[in-house]
Amino acid sequence: MYLITLIPGDGIGPEVMDAALHVMEASKLEFDYQKASAGNACFQATGTTIPEKTIEMARSADATLFGAVTTVPGQKSAIITLRKVMNLYANLRPVKSFPGVKSIYSDLDFLIVRENSEGLYSGKEEYILGGKGATALRVVNRNASENICKFAFEQAIKSGKNKVTAVHKADMLPKTDGIFKKAFWKVSEDYPGIETEEMYLDDAAMFLVTQPHRFQILVTTNLFGDILSDEAAGLVGGLGMVPSANIGNQNGLFEPVHGSAPDIAGQGIANPTAMILSVSLMLQYLGEYQESLKLEKGLYKVLEEKKIITPDLGGAASTEKMAAEVRKKFEDS
Ligand code: NAI
Ligand code: MG
Repeated sequence: MYLITLIPGDGIGPEVMDAALHVMEASKLEFDYQKASAGNACFQATGTTIPEKTIEMARSADATLFGAVTTVPGQKSAIITLRKVMNLYANLRPVKSFPGVKSIYSDLDFLIVRENSEGLYSGKEEYILGGKGATALRVVNRNASENICKFAFEQAIKSGKNKVTAVHKADMLPKTDGIFKKAFWKVSEDYPGIETEEMYLDDAAMFLVTQPHRFQILVTTNLFGDILSDEAAGLVGGLGMVPSANIGNQNGLFEPVHGSAPDIAGQGIANPTAMILSVSLMLQYLGEYQESLKLEKGLYKVLEEKKIITPDLGGAASTEKMAAEVRKKFEDS
């Protein structure tokens, strides 16, 4: 029995969460779910986007599933706070082509490993010149950089990949990214069997589109990883398709890369794929590899058949219908 904390959030967050849980009802594993609140609706109700109780529930569970929240400028970001207080320093964003899904390439399989605890999302932003300007502090520490680079190399070994590319901008940011770059090369010495490469962020952004096959694992700092992973999502069918894992030494939190999508919220047409794949990443984290594989197999069948898929994938099915179909295939596989 696994204790899972659910943070559905706002907009399509609860819609894709419900869909993914519906699919999981067909699992042979047993889950005990506890629901916690965060985000904008939570702020309206309680005065905070991320109550202490939610943090406690996430901390004490075997894993946490997070839908998506609406972040209103000026409010504390619920997801960034959770990543920080639980020290979920590694954000993994696997990018894989899906059978039947229209995209530029049909055979992509790489992983973006993004530093999740510092960088330009340090939360240290302030107005200067009496509000006529503003600064944001980009924090890069040797320890955090070494940790994330080590994590990336370990992921390479775990997933049978043999190349790690460090993405930085040390030409323009010689101190912060100088530390990151140095950490990468130092850590790489412990992994002589793995091919290494470093690349400037702007080059990486271009090569992701023109030569994505050159990448196996990309490791980078917080903001760069955020941008590159949304770009990469565009290579495999869009934001509705890409999941992510936030991993620390004690906890794991799993969420789709997409946000609360207010433009389609309430219409029941959100693609549940990213959330279902986030559940699959959670299953891997819990050591339930067989179940994860089965779940992905079921999902792939639905995508490949192209019959019961949501509008963003070119279909006309609702979130609920697509989830029900994935559940059926999951049960049968
Ligand atoms: P978004 O990811 O919510 O939506 C971008 C576009 O992708 C929209 O056109 C949306 O309809 C589409 N889309 C996203 N997920 C989809 C799905 N599952 N199925 C079909 N289409 C999908 O990003 P946006 O619009 O920039 O942000 C909306 C809100 O979400 C903002 O308040 C933002 O701060 C928040 N956000 C929250 C995140 C989180 O909770 N981790 C991450 C990113 C944004
Ligand atoms: Mg993003």
